[in-house]
Amino acid sequence: MKEITKNLSPDFLWGSASAAYQVEGAWDADGKSLSVWDKYVHIPGTTFKGTTGDIAVDHYHRYKEDVELMAEMGLKAYRFSVAWTRILPQGRGPVNEAGIKFYSDLIDELLAHDIEPLITLYHWDLPQCLMDEYGGWESRQIIDDFNEYASVLFKAFGDRVKYWISLNEQNVFVSLGYQLALHPPGVSDDKRMYRVNHIANLANARVINTFHDMVPDGKIGPSFAYSPVYAKDSNPINVLAAEKAEDLQSHFWLDVYLYGRYPKFALKHLTQQGIDLDIQEGDLALLKSAKPDFLGINYYQSNTAAYNPIDGVGRGEMNTTGKKGSSGESGIPGLYKRIENPFVERTNWDWEIDPTGLSIALNRLTSRYDIPILITENGLGEYDKVDEDGKVHDTYRIDYLESHVAAVNQAVENGATVLGYCTWSFTDLLSWLNGYQKRYGFVYVDKHEVEEGTLERLKKDSFYWYQDLIKVHSEQ
Ligand code: BG6
Repeated sequence: MKEITKNLSPDFLWGSASAAYQVEGAWDADGKSLSVWDKYVHIPGTTFKGTTGDIAVDHYHRYKEDVELMAEMGLKAYRFSVAWTRILPQGRGPVNEAGIKFYSDLIDELLAHDIEPLITLYHWDLPQCLMDEYGGWESRQIIDDFNEYASVLFKAFGDRVKYWISLNEQNVFVSLGYQLALHPPGVSDDKRMYRVNHIANLANARVINTFHDMVPDGKIGPSFAYSPVYAKDSNPINVLAAEKAEDLQSHFWLDVYLYGRYPKFALKHLTQQGIDLDIQEGDLALLKSAKPDFLGINYYQSNTAAYNPIDGVGRGEMNTTGKKGSSGESGIPGLYKRIENPFVERTNWDWEIDPTGLSIALNRLTSRYDIPILITENGLGEYDKVDEDGKVHDTYRIDYLESHVAAVNQAVENGATVLGYCTWSFTDLLSWLNGYQKRYGFVYVDKHEVEEGTLERLKKDSFYWYQDLIKVHSEQ
């Protein structure tokens, strides 16, 4: 344990993360309004076996018990998101004091146990009323409304919370929502997706600037789902494909966050496709003016790319059932396709297990952007079962996390600045499209797809492993 943390600073944020919709439940409690997810999951066929977050793991009512477990573990930081619909049930305007109170109590509870709260402003649960009124992220009205919502939080919690995440995985929520039609609003239209994405960039930039005015001693940054892309081999045609994939899948967002501009190749490609981002006067100046203090990275896996001929594969199947091998190749005809990497193992959901990829990610990001990085998510979604001895022996999760921590340590030795590491997740939670059977937590929760379960919490073996890691590092 000492070896794999020796390069990490003494105040390293050993954390764990969650998101409101995935843990809280209490979907209509104390003045909360409906979010797009509250509605979407009730449309038949959208989620695995029709699972919802109506109750989730009931963190809303059990947060004290959960924080108690975090404290027992010795956790240094807890990343959670705020449900916009609890704070501003009409999306803007009147503030729901009960919503403020819930998060304020949670923050106090964390601080009382010396756990640093890290708040995510937006983890996908947009107020449904804003979707109904003007199409949510499709209208520039969202920029003002998101800024108003964020300002309420900065004012209420900025004195106690010093680390903030603006948007969680903008690259995921725009592409799954507007390209693959798998998240709300279930649209499949590239033109709309790229416009939505540009508006989200503006909203992100505006909020970062507001934050710096309102919480000058705090730090804020977006969280990006980053999967470094490898070329299938040294055939130049595949190397070029991998470079294009890296540009269109990552630099297209990261360059905007950190340089305030879109990468040239990607823009040219979109123009050739007849896609217009609708960049208006003042937009680029706003993007350039917003400077994140750190970059949040959610890392789960790497990607391997090969050339994809013009008549090659398009959108592929996503494995949401946990049936290994059920996902298919996918890509952009004429540019690249994602292929299986024969050098790494895969999970039952076909996610590639590649700890070295995290070192590569941190090295690449440090070289290109030279900014402190906060790992806001990393973890393994797997089937867990309670054994006959009443315990959950998740050695595969320990192996996964330990090898990824070692990779972080390696990247820091190579020159990256890493502020902290949040595992996904602390307790088991709802895995959006995959139900409750795809588990990520250190704490098992008795909750299932069909029969509800008791919601009882049970510490897995990985809980004790992380507890030990944090302790060993603190004694170094
Ligand atoms: C990230 C999200 O994409 O990955 C989380 O920020 C999510 O909310 C996590 O749960 C794991 O993905 P999944 O699909 O396995 O739940």
